[in-house]
Amino acid sequence: MCFFDSAAGLLRALSAERAHNLTLTLVGAAAPFLPRPAADDRRLAITAFGLDFPNPVGLAAGFDKNAQVPDAMGKFGFGFVECGTVTPRPQAGNPQPRLFRLIEDGAVINRMGFNNGGMQEAARNLKARRGRGIVGINIGANKDSADRISDYVLGFAALAPLADYVTVNVSSPNTPGLRGLQNREELTRLLDSLITARAGTKKPILLKIAPDLDHHALDEIAAVVRTSAIEGLIVSNTTIARPMLKSSHARETGGLSGRPLLAPSTAVLRAMRQRLGKSVTLVGVGGIACGADAYEKIRAGASLVQLYTALVYQGPGLVARIKQELLACLARDGYADVTAAIGSGAD
Ligand SMILES: Cc1cc2nc3c(=O)[nH]c(=O)nc-3n(C[C@H](O)[C@H](O)[C@H](O)COP(=O)(O)O)c2cc1C
Repeated sequence: MCFFDSAAGLLRALSAERAHNLTLTLVGAAAPFLPRPAADDRRLAITAFGLDFPNPVGLAAGFDKNAQVPDAMGKFGFGFVECGTVTPRPQAGNPQPRLFRLIEDGAVINRMGFNNGGMQEAARNLKARRGRGIVGINIGANKDSADRISDYVLGFAALAPLADYVTVNVSSPNTPGLRGLQNREELTRLLDSLITARAGTKKPILLKIAPDLDHHALDEIAAVVRTSAIEGLIVSNTTIARPMLKSSHARETGGLSGRPLLAPSTAVLRAMRQRLGKSVTLVGVGGIACGADAYEKIRAGASLVQLYTALVYQGPGLVARIKQELLACLARDGYADVTAAIGSGAD
């Protein structure tokens, strides 16, 4: 683990995308030699949408787009790993450079544009897995698709049987028009199609939304989610907003993640908890860099949390630190376990 934490610093000498690709290669090569993580403290265990998570801290989508290293990432102590976004056909994504570190802001801007090897490659990788940790697959539509809803249905059919849950990503800012699927009518059609596609199976479906939604849009999404049979909501993807940023990359086009996203994404999470209560599972993601950040999301209503950007800056030792700090927060506030703290600060 120490090696990877030191490497996180060294990798910063490379361009962000090269560093990411090298990380995937290193993690893949080291996978067989990485020790199993220590068993998690029982107070961190969570049951959500029918799955038993050893701890609530997950790896967010975008790190392992092709499901190359979910088991290796699990060995860093994540309670679950979400792979993707996967589109039906392979896709090159946007021209490089398309990934920028905003070091002074503890943030990243990306406009990757769903670069991925397509659903056949992801399916091959998932089939070859040996590990048993919880893995979600995040699905999306090809940029040039004539029928985006069909793309999600295709992705679901190919990948749902190979994953523990499926995330429907309608919130990437880097595929033009994709976020339009968050509108009431289109979202209803999309979720209805997926509910039909999963008939006979109980595969949990989660919807991943943007943080850049006004109260009316949140009302509409909550109304659709309430009447659909999906199990959860992931809040949130990256933001197109540009709060006060110090880095010279601040004006790059794309989605902003990391520290500046913490407060706005938690505000949307809380707003969705207020609208939906406990009827669906909420997953909090955006700007988590320590245990207190994860705890804040849990108190706002999240049963599970995910992170990506802080890993770039702190390395994988962060996962164990977050779990320790989370336990300290629970003890300080007198909660017996994580479950008891969910939504305790939602009002
Ligand atoms: C480089 C990069 C690529 C990403 N790719 C995806 C993606 O393919 N699908 C997706 O749903 N989210 C993607 N995300 C968003 C993350 O899953 C997460 O929602 C967001 O980064 C906020 O979390 P963070 O602040 O902990 O990074 C990506 C984020 C980054 C930084």
